[in-house]
Amino acid sequence: MGPTRAAIRVIESAMAVPAGSSPPAPVCPPQNTSIFSPATEQAARITEVTWLVIGICLLIFVVVEALLVYAIIRYRRRRDAGPHDPPQVYGSGPIELAWTVVPILIVVVLGLVATRGVFSIDTEHPPPHALPVSVIAHQWWWEFRYPDQGIVTANELVVPLSDPDEPRPIALSLQSADVVHSFWVPRLAGKKDVFPHRINTIWFDPTTAGVYHGQCSEYCGRQHAHMLILVRVLPKPEWEQWVRAQQAPAAEVPSGAAGREIFLSTACVKCHTVRGTPADGTFAPDLTHLQSRTTIAAGTLANTHENLLRWVTDPQQVKPGCNMPAMQLRPDQIEQVVAYLETLH
Ligand code: CUA
Repeated sequence: MGPTRAAIRVIESAMAVPAGSSPPAPVCPPQNTSIFSPATEQAARITEVTWLVIGICLLIFVVVEALLVYAIIRYRRRRDAGPHDPPQVYGSGPIELAWTVVPILIVVVLGLVATRGVFSIDTEHPPPHALPVSVIAHQWWWEFRYPDQGIVTANELVVPLSDPDEPRPIALSLQSADVVHSFWVPRLAGKKDVFPHRINTIWFDPTTAGVYHGQCSEYCGRQHAHMLILVRVLPKPEWEQWVRAQQAPAAEVPSGAAGREIFLSTACVKCHTVRGTPADGTFAPDLTHLQSRTTIAAGTLANTHENLLRWVTDPQQVKPGCNMPAMQLRPDQIEQVVAYLETLH
């Protein structure tokens, strides 16, 4: 075995999934995250600029390639004639001027168009009645706080549909609890970096109900790829219903009593909040209404019984390097904790 082979073996074994587990199955079928199918005015402007840039680049490509092909054919070496050079144009003023001025004009046009696009969606302040949501990025999940509604949730941003006659955009203020992340839901808005000790803002006006997917798009550590964003745009009445449900304290259901006891007696409470209980940690997702979310572990797994069992048993098998340890509970205790989590509607 050569040194390269040996190195590959080492890398492969380091990347291998530990025995007895399989990599997380995809949560949902591939979603449309294309920048070419914008769902908001803000995303549409980005798409316009993108098409313009692609168009100009395509034009340059075609012109350059056409000249190249022409030159290859026209000036190929001919058997009948001796070697002949094309006319020498070195130092020609008009030609030098042309290939200096034209690219400058192209760059200026592209720069102006892009700048206008950025300013039109980035520095225009959202209308004063926009819904403020503060987004806090963590390794490796998203926290969403609604200051006006007093709601805290994670990974799934739920917003009301904006009425074109009376727009109610969503104004996000972005900050990070640790390293640099980037918030990007391509069909709704542009990409915005998320920094610690600094607040960035981004806003969009959701005019089509539906589910939109996004992803952290700045490498932020080992589980960067498992830091998904899900945005649910609901018609206003449904959104208001969601708000009321989120504002309620955690349900206390008899079937969850045993698991609740275990949950509250372990270190879970240091990181997670379940409103209405002593659990008030803020290092990890708020679990008060965990069952209102369709996924767990920031979109890594669907929110199902099996996946909750798997996650609570050992998060490191699902999301190696994440900050949640296995709590070393017995299998029956894990069943009870999961039964409790399943009561958190
Ligand atoms: Cu957070 Cu990449």
